[in-house]
Amino acid sequence: MVWVPGAAAIARKAGARLRAFFEQGVETEYKGDVDLVTVADRTVEKLIRGRLGEVFPEHGVYGEEGTRERMEGEFRWYVDPLDGTTNFAHGFPQFCVSLGLEQRPAGRGPAQDGTIVAGVIYDPMRDELYTAERGRGARLNGKPMHVSRTPELAESLIATGFPSRKRHDSPNVHFYHEFTLRSHGVRRAGSAALDLAYVAAGRLEAFWEFNLNPWDTAAGILLVEEAGGRVTDFAGGPFQLNSREVLASNGLIHAELVGLFETMFAGRELTPIPTPREFAERRAARATCGGADAR
Ligand code: IPD
Ligand code: CA
Ligand code: CA
Repeated sequence: MVWVPGAAAIARKAGARLRAFFEQGVETEYKGDVDLVTVADRTVEKLIRGRLGEVFPEHGVYGEEGTRERMEGEFRWYVDPLDGTTNFAHGFPQFCVSLGLEQRPAGRGPAQDGTIVAGVIYDPMRDELYTAERGRGARLNGKPMHVSRTPELAESLIATGFPSRKRHDSPNVHFYHEFTLRSHGVRRAGSAALDLAYVAAGRLEAFWEFNLNPWDTAAGILLVEEAGGRVTDFAGGPFQLNSREVLASNGLIHAELVGLFETMFAGRELTPIPTPREFAERRAARATCGGADAR
């Protein structure tokens, strides 16, 4: 384990800081209309940037809160100091630190991906540390973890998320609806990195989201792959850090999920849902004929 021990120590330290902020309460600012940021996001990114510079002085750092250091190097850490800021700001205890390491052989253009070689996600509220290095498997608190063996979407628990920017452009509510009808349920817990870690740990069968950033996904996708799962774009093609589409699963239900994306993008097989008005009319009609027993 070349990188994990150093990165894990940094993630634990960062997580302890987040937890202290969470317990004391922090003021919230707005980056966009509902896109929040707190002093915790900024302070913890600074802490991580400093520690990464000490432990891996040759490595670059690319952080959500603006860090861009040593971007020409062979290695680059994608840092989300606080994934789940909206949860954090509301006192909802589902958030984490995410550190993903990309190796970029010389000559790669800025738009070309390298290979993710290490990933660390730490949930400070549950003291759960998820780690992986490419080719060496994935671990939860030091114990090997594996994706679930559920073979069908119909028996699966899955997850998604919704963007906090340009919310009106997102079609995801249609996918949320359709996947809800075809599975045991869809969770929207508010931390994409933890959602990916949960797929790796076999707690969820799959996760998808539109428009995530490299700091949200870099660590989590390696966890899923090293735990035996699959990560692609929505068409089943290779996942890329900048592709703005992530579909991660236990592998067994992947083809079924890709098929459903294809069908839905083609406008077929959308299960109709009553509009609130249609529902209200039916409810009123039932109340008129059924009186107090109407449901
Ligand atoms: C957000 C979370 C959320 C996802 C959003 C992300 P942030 O990250 O991962 O689950 O739905 O798209 O932006 O802003 O809390 O770091
Ligand atoms: Ca994030
Ligand atoms: Ca964040």
